[in-house]
Amino acid sequence: AGKANLGPLVGAVDQGTSSTRFLVFNSKTAELLSHHQVELEQKFPKEGWVEQDPKEILQSVYECIERTCDKLTELNIDISSIKAIGVSNQRETTIIWDKYTGEPLYNAVVWLDLRTQGTVETLSKRIPGNNNFVKSKTGLPLSTYFSAVKLHWILENVRKVKKAVEEERALFGTVDSWLIWSLTGGPNGGVHCTDVTNASRTMLFNIHSLEWDVELCEFFEVPMTILPNIRSSSEIYGLMKAGALEGVPLSGCLGDQSAALVGQMCFQDGQAKNTYGTGCFLLCNTGQKCVFSDHGLLTTVAYKLGRDKPVCYALEGSVAIAGAVIRWLRDNLGILKTSEEIEKLAKEAGTSYGCYFVPAFSGLYAPYWEPSARGIICGLTQFTSKQHIAFAALEAVCFQTKEILDAMNKDCGIPLTHLQVDGGMTNNKILMQLQADILYIPVVKPSMPETTALGAAMAAGAAEGVGVWSLEPEDLSAVTMERFEPQINPEESEIRYAIWKKAVQKSMGWATG
Ligand code: G3P
Repeated sequence: AGKANLGPLVGAVDQGTSSTRFLVFNSKTAELLSHHQVELEQKFPKEGWVEQDPKEILQSVYECIERTCDKLTELNIDISSIKAIGVSNQRETTIIWDKYTGEPLYNAVVWLDLRTQGTVETLSKRIPGNNNFVKSKTGLPLSTYFSAVKLHWILENVRKVKKAVEEERALFGTVDSWLIWSLTGGPNGGVHCTDVTNASRTMLFNIHSLEWDVELCEFFEVPMTILPNIRSSSEIYGLMKAGALEGVPLSGCLGDQSAALVGQMCFQDGQAKNTYGTGCFLLCNTGQKCVFSDHGLLTTVAYKLGRDKPVCYALEGSVAIAGAVIRWLRDNLGILKTSEEIEKLAKEAGTSYGCYFVPAFSGLYAPYWEPSARGIICGLTQFTSKQHIAFAALEAVCFQTKEILDAMNKDCGIPLTHLQVDGGMTNNKILMQLQADILYIPVVKPSMPETTALGAAMAAGAAEGVGVWSLEPEDLSAVTMERFEPQINPEESEIRYAIWKKAVQKSMGWATG
């Protein structure tokens, strides 16, 4: 039989902290045709350290591409219709590799890693001039979260890396750079680049000039020669060098949270989305204006969809632990067999019965930026069951979202009237209902929750020289939505939130004694 002719297709690599996916979309209808997902190992070699193997990350990308192509072939869809590939990725995670061998020189230091708590303290004492030096250039607070501090630590502590830098063999990149360099040929002509959204998370990038900042590189003692070239989020970076999609252009690149903003079509000033992945990230588009927060939010690059297109910025509320708390209940406590099982447990309980869970495993991010916080479960009695703890874990995700939504409302002045959500956890209906109850506004979810991948595919398909995807709003509006309306009364939700705040206070300062 002849192959189905669906017109041009676009693929997207979605390399998250917990898993890697490859998804293929129809560029005319945005329909998801096939995908494959591989869960990734996280290593915790010491308390507070979080690492991944860059080779495993790369391998998982190849595996997902090959398996998705097999599935498409089984569906009688011609893989030669795939005209472009976009990359979206976990941000900040720091990788250094040898440009001649293609071998990583150290494990990837994951964004959640806390080893640089001391480095941050030392660096903050050295900040030149006013305290605003880093924030005014980068939009970010000095924190363990961002790449520059991780890179500073690696350059200071890993001999092999120091030597490779001296011998001019070392390249630095966030996951997007590592993947694009490797997929476009690695040591044999790989393209060493990153896009403005990923660059804006390194803390070495000036979000106003859109260039690496000489003073920041000096401050963090990072040699500029190891940094990737900065490109827009939508242009041809290079061609796939191997595998089933050899020769296909890589032409979209966005940090995963920016990609979700694009995939949710939040192109207007004031439009926002919240993605529930390993962490939870609420981004609000502020257009071409760089808005600085007074309430613990970050200023970040939202996207720049083409070399000659304007840059758009976003305010971001970042929560470190969302889906990660479920994985912890599964892997560390063993009270869940699968992550999906949490919905059943939470439903059985129907309440946390006064149990509150602050999952500050990596300190607390927005709006607190408190690296010394650690996780606590409180309000326990002999009556407390694993069902109550499961419920409290879901509530924690919702309360953390409320904290960043409140900050966003204060910074923007105009409160959000509903919350657009996406990400793996949004399949959990109990979570979505709880979220609507706790925020006391409707929660709206697209029927296709893979908006991160969709955003990367859109950027790739719209790139100059590819041109198979139009970013005009009328082409993108066929998405159906599911709505969750608040069902409890606002007073009840306020009381629960007030107790949550008390629990948060208890988690603070734990790591400093
Ligand atoms: O900043 C970290 C973020 O990009 C991680 O995303 O999807 O792995 O939670 P995710």
